[in-house]
Amino acid sequence: MSTEGAVDLGATQVITWTYGGELPGKEIRVQRGDVLKVDLSNRLKVPTTIHWHGIALRNDMDGVPNLTQSEIPAGGRFTYEFTVPDAGTYWFHPHVGTQLDTGLYAPLIVEDPEDGGDYDTELVVVLDDWLDGLGRSPADVLADLRTNGMTMEHTGMPGMSMPQSDLLGGDVGDVVYPHMLANGRTANAPHTFATKPGQRVRLRLINAGSDTAFRVGVPDVRMTVTHTDGFPVVPVEAETVLLGMGERIDATITVPSSTTALLAVAEGRGAYAQVIIQSGRPVDPTTSDAAATQLTTLPALTVRDIEAAESVRLPDKAPDITHTLTLEGPGDKYDWTINGRTYDPNDGLPIQPGQRVRLRLENSSEMFHPMHLHGHTFQVVDKGRPGARKDTVIVLPDQTLEVDFDADNPGQWLTHCHNVYHGETGMMTVMSYEA
Ligand code: C2O
Ligand code: CU
Repeated sequence: MSTEGAVDLGATQVITWTYGGELPGKEIRVQRGDVLKVDLSNRLKVPTTIHWHGIALRNDMDGVPNLTQSEIPAGGRFTYEFTVPDAGTYWFHPHVGTQLDTGLYAPLIVEDPEDGGDYDTELVVVLDDWLDGLGRSPADVLADLRTNGMTMEHTGMPGMSMPQSDLLGGDVGDVVYPHMLANGRTANAPHTFATKPGQRVRLRLINAGSDTAFRVGVPDVRMTVTHTDGFPVVPVEAETVLLGMGERIDATITVPSSTTALLAVAEGRGAYAQVIIQSGRPVDPTTSDAAATQLTTLPALTVRDIEAAESVRLPDKAPDITHTLTLEGPGDKYDWTINGRTYDPNDGLPIQPGQRVRLRLENSSEMFHPMHLHGHTFQVVDKGRPGARKDTVIVLPDQTLEVDFDADNPGQWLTHCHNVYHGETGMMTVMSYEA
């Protein structure tokens, strides 16, 4: 059920939109190969849909209005029903307007019955940048960006520059957020995860933000990264990991003997969210400030450091077709474009079933774009080694990144920037093929 109501974020209460009144919405957990059936009852005063981010599902359940289904009207219902082919950490959210930047999001965890994972317990952490219900709705923010541009958003003064990040190679974002959340809570009133020293915890990190990349780590605790966007990788150690909007990372940690915190620093923004990992005596959550600052000085693992596990590597094959997507913006009206054009569902990039498709993502703008492909999991092309399998990947300013996928799931598949303000103003296109 998508609904409007009050939510307690810790630092403040807001009226917002959620799934079932909870923030994040209640996790859905299924097994690989299951048929997932979800009845959505839309209690909002506006139309909505659900997109099942990262799932290679049948096209008519993908939740893209005017492409794969009609919008579900206010007061309407829709039954989503599809087979879930791959295990991993996924999530779901609406695909209408800027609804992603409200409280409409929840985890979708697909377990693998044969996964002999080396861990005792799991912690799902959903990260978000929050502004809804505090004076400006996401729709207001978009309208402001359209009239005033980004500089005004950041400083209120024309000509002033936006915060920058080396890790992101430029601007950190376009929108100012009053709060950063982990599992629906601000840093000063965090979610506490009760555990024991020595326990092995599988972290499932999900960035549900709209305009914020997060650098995540646990002070003095090494993470072993095991999955990107649901798919296994050659395990790699990290002090911190970077997640763009829409990305997920699974990593295992060993719980230390005293209480600590998983910190999610909003990259380049000087704010953070946290989940307390309580293995000893409770601590005062404000003591994380110094640790969060310290975290930003540590190296961050990025997609370049990750290789796909052998079991999920795409077979070696030269691409049958290459599409270049030049990413540009913002224009005068805060338009973000692909190949000079804003989104038109009837003007996509043709491909044929069975083709190995290469997407050349060329970023000609000064901001990073987490580019997402619906219905498929691509492999990042990394000279000389098998790049990570992913469905969302950060393309840095002035960078060209290539990804390959096999056209094995016919339909009309959106590919877009997962910054909701970029996607909504045009940075989306369609990969289209019939069986
Ligand atoms: Cu999570 Cu089209 O996106
Ligand atoms: Cu973007």
